[in-house]
Amino acid sequence: MTTTREFVPYIRRTLQEMPPKFDPPTEGFLRHQGFDTEAVRPMGLNESMFPPSPKVVEAVRSRVHMINRYPDAQCPHLTDIVTAREGVPGENIVWGNGSEELIQGTIHLSLAPGDGMVLPVPTFWGYRAMVRAAEADCAYIEMLPDGKVDIDGVLGAIGNKTRLVFCVTPNNPSGGYLDADALSRLIDGIPDSVLFGIDEAYAEFGRHAGGPDLIAMLKKRRGPWVVVRTFSKAYAMAGMRIGYAICSDGDLAQALRKTTCTFNVPILAQAAAEAALLDTEHLNKLLDWVAEGRAQITEGLKAMGLDPFPSVTNFVSVKIPVNGRDVTVALLDRGYQIHAWPDPGYENFIRITVGNRDDNAGCLVALKEVLAAA
Ligand SMILES: Cc1ncc(COP(=O)(O)O)c(C=O)c1O
Repeated sequence: MTTTREFVPYIRRTLQEMPPKFDPPTEGFLRHQGFDTEAVRPMGLNESMFPPSPKVVEAVRSRVHMINRYPDAQCPHLTDIVTAREGVPGENIVWGNGSEELIQGTIHLSLAPGDGMVLPVPTFWGYRAMVRAAEADCAYIEMLPDGKVDIDGVLGAIGNKTRLVFCVTPNNPSGGYLDADALSRLIDGIPDSVLFGIDEAYAEFGRHAGGPDLIAMLKKRRGPWVVVRTFSKAYAMAGMRIGYAICSDGDLAQALRKTTCTFNVPILAQAAAEAALLDTEHLNKLLDWVAEGRAQITEGLKAMGLDPFPSVTNFVSVKIPVNGRDVTVALLDRGYQIHAWPDPGYENFIRITVGNRDDNAGCLVALKEVLAAA
């Protein structure tokens, strides 16, 4: 029997038509479901499996007594650090409640319903919901078989209605970055009337692996651009919810700021981010650990006869001979939470977040058993 849906007049029809909001299986979610989360290794959400800097923890402690006060949304101390490092004016920098707030803001500042956007996929799952809620007319450009972005496809999809091209580099879930040649083609090929958005959530891993200096390259672009970064990944602060955007100019930054809430970045998140940015020694240690773990997982998957995507990030993706979702369920039973790509057409692809040596080894053994039994 089919049921007809009753639409109410006071909620936008687009939101009523969208599927229910998907909440990822966080530690809190699993605990609420009755899982013993002490016994589950969280290798599914690309959180850092390594702890934040002790200086971050200390900075948070030292500011706890300030939480009766509103935070300054301009994050002046943080802005000073980024300004000095990247050589961009402070007025071009916008802070967000995680980078996702700024991605959403970029979409909203640029697109009215029906306007065009171009997005290479598969990518971070959050984009599809944000694009749909904005009622954007998005051209989704499928990745090439080796996981690389189809640059010709992206440039060829730009039309009269296009306002925004968004690229994620290094990309989640494929794990590779846009090299200097690919970036140059995009920087030169995207018209000056189109905003070029780049999601660099995994920026620190990309640079550590020898990737290009994106900001330096973008400074040569005549047209507008915005780069969005986060403290959720390399800085091990996913729970803090803080990210930032570097914009090509002050007017663009001002427009992005208008999309954010008044007091969007908590006082404790600002204190934590400041300490994290200054503790470069800890960051480098984490980046080295992740690189080692990534190599361990990649080699382990190859030893099983699989062909993982070359990754520069804190995760490795691979195609497996069976359904990815089934494998994630079986692995969760064995104490490892991993991720199955949700994109249509990629049902046999899984992604494993890098952990410590024991996590990686244990997860590989469990995966081998599950695949053998399938
Ligand atoms: C590519 C990409 N962009 C953005 C995000 C959102 O990160 P944040 O925690 O900063 O909102 C993620 C999270 O996994 C991601 O993978």
